[in-house]
Amino acid sequence: MICDIHFKLNGAETVYKGDPSARLLDVLRGELQLTGTKCGCREGECGACAVIINGRLVNSCLAAMGSLVGSDVMTIEGYSTTERFAVLDRAYAEASAVQCGFCIPGMIMASECILASNPHPSETEIRTGISGNLCRCTGYNAIVRAIGIAAGEGSGLW
Ligand code: FES
Ligand code: FES
Repeated sequence: MICDIHFKLNGAETVYKGDPSARLLDVLRGELQLTGTKCGCREGECGACAVIINGRLVNSCLAAMGSLVGSDVMTIEGYSTTERFAVLDRAYAEASAVQCGFCIPGMIMASECILASNPHPSETEIRTGISGNLCRCTGYNAIVRAIGIAAGEGSGLW
């Protein structure tokens, strides 16, 4: 079955014409060529594919296109044009929080959701906020530090 699905993608009105059961992750990385969103497990376990839908962190490997009608989807490509991203980018660099980089797009989207709901999170709240995102390079401590730095330096942005 082919459907027209209207939604917003990185601020632009978008129409997807295709199978409503297709996974958002596959559509992003395939026909939309937005390959910043990574594919790890395809089972909702690793967070590499995390995007923000209507302000909430969602694993795009578990989101069917048919569920997106009228939704507002932000991927790392759209987020990377924002001032908030620039603060996080600098903080991740300052904390040396990036090793191979595979988990980082998902971690950045999780970081945004943590700070958007709580601009001054405790370490425990940060660790809880990234608990659905796996880093194979075991960079968690540096990532937690980076989010803390961003919280301090981005004061007023979140
Ligand atoms: S690829 Fe989606 S959670 Fe791992
Ligand atoms: S930096 Fe390599 S998986 Fe996180």
